[in-house]
Amino acid sequence: MSELSQRPEHAVVGEGMPHESAALHVTGRAIYTDDLTPRTKGVLHAWPVQSPHAHARITRLHIEPAYGEPGVVRVLTAGDVPGLNDSGIKHDEPLFPTEVMYHGQGVCWVLGETLEAARRGAGRIEVDYEPLPALLTIREAIAARSFQGVMPGAGRGDVEEALARAAHVFEGETEMAGQEQFYLETHASLAEVDDNGQVFVQSSTQHPTETQEVVAHVLGLSSHAVTVQCLRMGGGFGGKETQANPYAAVAALGATVTGRPVRVRLTRAQDITMTGKRHGFHAGWRVGFDDTGHLVALDTTLTSDGGWSLDLSEPVLARAICHVDNAYWIPAIRIHGRVARTHKTSQTAFRGFGGPQGMLVIEDILGRCAPLLGIDPLDLRRRNFYAEGQETPYGQPVRHADRVRVAWDQVLATGDVVRRTQEIAAFNAAHAHTKRALAVTPVKFGISFNLTAFNQAGALVHVYKDGSVLINHGGTEMGQGLHTKMLQVAATSLGVPLSRVRLAPTRTDKVPNTSATAASSGSDLNGAAIKNACEQITARLAEVDDGRNLAWDELVREAYFARVPLFAAGYYRTEGLHWDATVFRGTPFKYFAYGVAAAEVEVDGFTGAYRTRRVDIVHDVGDSLSPLVDLGQIEGGFVQGAGWLTLEDLRWDTTEGEHRGRLTTQAASTYKLPSFSEMPEDFRVATLEHAHEDGAVYGSKAVGEPPLMLAFSVREALRQACAAFGPAGISVELPSPATPEAVYWALDTARRAVAPEPAGA
Ligand code: MTE
Ligand code: HPA
Repeated sequence: MSELSQRPEHAVVGEGMPHESAALHVTGRAIYTDDLTPRTKGVLHAWPVQSPHAHARITRLHIEPAYGEPGVVRVLTAGDVPGLNDSGIKHDEPLFPTEVMYHGQGVCWVLGETLEAARRGAGRIEVDYEPLPALLTIREAIAARSFQGVMPGAGRGDVEEALARAAHVFEGETEMAGQEQFYLETHASLAEVDDNGQVFVQSSTQHPTETQEVVAHVLGLSSHAVTVQCLRMGGGFGGKETQANPYAAVAALGATVTGRPVRVRLTRAQDITMTGKRHGFHAGWRVGFDDTGHLVALDTTLTSDGGWSLDLSEPVLARAICHVDNAYWIPAIRIHGRVARTHKTSQTAFRGFGGPQGMLVIEDILGRCAPLLGIDPLDLRRRNFYAEGQETPYGQPVRHADRVRVAWDQVLATGDVVRRTQEIAAFNAAHAHTKRALAVTPVKFGISFNLTAFNQAGALVHVYKDGSVLINHGGTEMGQGLHTKMLQVAATSLGVPLSRVRLAPTRTDKVPNTSATAASSGSDLNGAAIKNACEQITARLAEVDDGRNLAWDELVREAYFARVPLFAAGYYRTEGLHWDATVFRGTPFKYFAYGVAAAEVEVDGFTGAYRTRRVDIVHDVGDSLSPLVDLGQIEGGFVQGAGWLTLEDLRWDTTEGEHRGRLTTQAASTYKLPSFSEMPEDFRVATLEHAHEDGAVYGSKAVGEPPLMLAFSVREALRQACAAFGPAGISVELPSPATPEAVYWALDTARRAVAPEPAGA
């Protein structure tokens, strides 16, 4: 067992404990970025002027009338920018544009003594636009050949030859919608400049280092002149990986120009209309099976809807391509990818980061093809699982592939799937207008950033003379429980009780050059860096102790008087990774996280409304660092995935006319999120046993994103329930999201279908 993964006796890791801020969360005492505003003197409030066009040239910007509004202090425009007028990570996002690229884009920002003054001032600004044609859907972008960024491809084997030899070949298209992150805390930044010109930005950012860099670029400063702090976020879900940067830049610019603290906090409507979402995807595919139902070939082209700028669309696409196989061995495979440019918000990271979209393609294919092949979907999936050692399309051997089978069999056994399937058949035979179905789907998700350089982290651990411990690390807390786990890691590594360890807010002047808290790797990376720092300290303390077994406080005191340093900077980089993006090959992932879910649904034949009656999950978290946190992540991830696949329906106005390109679902009233009423009525989550992950911190595995994709089981169950309204053996095409309306039309189509010919006839 590697040193990194070994647990000492009396480890604090592995104990189930509440989130470190749970008491603050539920009593409303937890401080978020915008809660700092009333505690800060002389704050100016910012309000954007938003574009009423999806695509237009700005022909005149007349800001003077804003100053006629009492309380307006300053209007920020491109002329105020001392550095680069760009806040995009690909330098394709002007902060103050001359051409607006989506409906709702910020044109300029008004600073006021109150938010109301800023809002009124913004209303007085005159902007003339020359409207330009706008592309709003992937299909429109494909037809116009509107693409951006590199267009990668991956594959192996002779796909054409394999398809020519295949016993069964099917082709089709799969389209899926994006998803709004809908974190409860909207984007917020509060910036101040001190007497020395040091810029301090508090931001709801998952990536303080990148926010620091973007602020520095906009202000024309070096990174050391900008400090970014993130106290905690009220959810991020990927939506704050890059998208906090422009708002931090506006606040910092405002503070620089006026010499006063400036606060930006988006309203819900601003947040949802201005910031990026999960990418919708389109996939065209051809698939081949042999006569025993084994996949022999897949040829697919994935097109993602990137929106107006690149942002993270290329790495999202890369992860989608790396997950088209999900848990299945496909001997001959060819995957092409491209990012469409449309006139919408710039789509960005969202839990799974393209992985869910890639995996949905193969799950959709299997769900649609199973009846055409005359094979039970359960059998078709299990038959095609990877065997140990087989390689992914990008050349990484699938280690621990057996875990999918083990989790699968456990779900089938504990979920009593065979008996319940029979009961469901009997229920369906007895009920003409209500149908039930049960589906089981697997997850295999690669852990690490595809870009190798991001897989590093730092930490700073202080032991004070009284034996108390303060830790800093580069990860941000967004509710996922990272800080809880990090406290457990530090306490375990130092061998002290949890009560002796505190955690300081994430700041770029404590730990520099950090990666985003993303890709589920927060605990893996920062945990290993904290452990490294703690080990340096314990090694020094062991020398002082010299076998005497002194109590911690005494040992620390002695070490201080012996002039032994009691603080350490820790560092970690994930070994064994390599990725060649030019040929799309390598070992981008340290390991795979696995899971299996069985979902049972009931569908109403009159309305398409449905209930999720029961869900059974077995998920692989390695040796859990914090079982209650992991349970919350599995349940929350699953429900968020079910929201994406079955409820949440982003709509843009695509009609020609003055509202073209406007997001019509701008609030929770029109954008249906999962809530208690959509929770599975019976929800049973277990973690996979004997799943120690050697080489990861204390044998644990990342858990943030992978459970989201367990929700494919709900979509597949809905498909099968729709099919049950029609004659046996029909294949049902289900849109994504499979909203009640979409389910109704799918079951109605099934009801009208004629019984198909048996496969091969
Ligand atoms: N859980 C909560 N409660 N809130 C969040 O914003 N973000 C998810 C996941 N779980 C999120 C969450 C996403 S998108 C990721 S990548 C991981 O947490 C990030 O944290 P980790 O790397 O510490 O798991
Ligand atoms: N998830 C997965 N992979 C990633 C992410 C993410 O949020 N960011 C960069 N690579």
